[in-house]
Amino acid sequence: MAERSAAGARVRAVAAKLNAAIVRDGRTLDSVLTEPAGLPERDLPLLRALLYGSIRWHHRLAWQLERLLTRPLGRSRRDAELAALIRLGLFQLQWLRVPDHAAVSATVDAAAAIGAGQRRGLVNAVLRRFRREERQLDAAMADSPEAFRSHPRWLIDAIEKDWQGRAGEILTANNAQPPMWLRVNTCRVGVDEYAATLTESGHSAQRDDTAPAALLLDEPVPAASLPGYADGLVSVQDAAAQLAAAYLDLRPGQRVLDACAAPGGKTAHMLESCPDLAEVVALDRDPDRLAIAQDNLARLGLSATWLACDAADTETWWDGRPFDRILVDAPCSAIGVVRRHPDIKLLRRESDLDAVARLQARLLERTWPLLGSDGLLVYATCTVLKRENHAQIERFLQAAPDAALAGGRSRGQRQLFPGEANMDGFYYACLKKRDARQGSRA
Ligand SMILES: C[S@@+](CC[C@H](N)C(=O)[O-])C[C@H]1O[C@@H](n2cnc3c(N)ncnc32)[C@H](O)[C@@H]1O
Repeated sequence: MAERSAAGARVRAVAAKLNAAIVRDGRTLDSVLTEPAGLPERDLPLLRALLYGSIRWHHRLAWQLERLLTRPLGRSRRDAELAALIRLGLFQLQWLRVPDHAAVSATVDAAAAIGAGQRRGLVNAVLRRFRREERQLDAAMADSPEAFRSHPRWLIDAIEKDWQGRAGEILTANNAQPPMWLRVNTCRVGVDEYAATLTESGHSAQRDDTAPAALLLDEPVPAASLPGYADGLVSVQDAAAQLAAAYLDLRPGQRVLDACAAPGGKTAHMLESCPDLAEVVALDRDPDRLAIAQDNLARLGLSATWLACDAADTETWWDGRPFDRILVDAPCSAIGVVRRHPDIKLLRRESDLDAVARLQARLLERTWPLLGSDGLLVYATCTVLKRENHAQIERFLQAAPDAALAGGRSRGQRQLFPGEANMDGFYYACLKKRDARQGSRA
């Protein structure tokens, strides 16, 4: 019993340190979780649940903590970790199915493990006060959109400005736990056959009509535990990301450019869905991410022509042969995948958006001339902000007389909202190259 409670305190102490590394030092969730936590394997699911949950609900928890403290905590690392520990306690009381007394005592005990043993009383008092004043706090939250929505104010405003009628739905979906989607490697196994293998191994999943190689797992599992994962039968990829291959309308013999390819999810899907492509040239500016993409394709038994370079600097890498298809899966604010990466709400700044939009415009402008006549360029982002999506494409169309949305303005682009049909938020625009001397656009 004593051993179990010591273990509970250890997990919470590690979670508090990692939470502070994200909130105070600006590290990402992925990066803090890849470092060894010094915890036994069996405690890692709890660590992940505490960390993801406390970051997902950070803005609300921080607002509650501010109201529950009689004096604010200081700015030192130790105080930042103490604040993180108390927020973790508040998270447990509201979202985890742990009895109050167990959550409070493990959190109070964790104070010593982060070097704040003398502040145990404070941790205990704040958590108990929360329970007593929970109703008043809930009522007061109506006056704080930041706390109520658990998003930074600038992001609430940006989403409301772009999607007035749907903003509440988007903000709610951003705070939900995402489902796990698989993409079956149809070069190797049929989707129904793989679904049957999953059932035999004790998992259950549903097919989905919008993405033909997709399976939606009823319960998320570690990818490596999926049958045939190491042998390349399956990958983890949201169904919204799986729409890129279909929008590209790939045909055997085509030469394809994947301008922003790492970590290779869409590159692999293109090759799985059309194995007889002549070539896929896959670029990424980040050599480390490109190496991960290469490993991913090797696991799937697929190959591409890899180049670590700035796709927009075409004079440094292009051999002059036009492409039939181009995918620009652009770097973006990633506001459509906040449910998968809740740290985006803390790490992204409104001031980042100008540079991101400029980079997207540059990638579009510079890769467009590489597309052959009658070719198709698919522009994709995982965001819902119009300046990176509809407005970006509108601006591009004004400047490129030989570009038109395939199928016209309404059918040539699509905004998927987070949570819609269980998918991530994504935007696609399909741009057709036509003879610049022709008249009006489709
Ligand atoms: C949205 S991610 C691509 C995801 C990838 N297509 C997939 O499906 O796995 C955007 C990528 O663009 C890369 N990138 C950013 N600027 C770039 C540039 N100027 N040229 C090439 N790649 C760039 C980033 O390193 C990042 O890997």
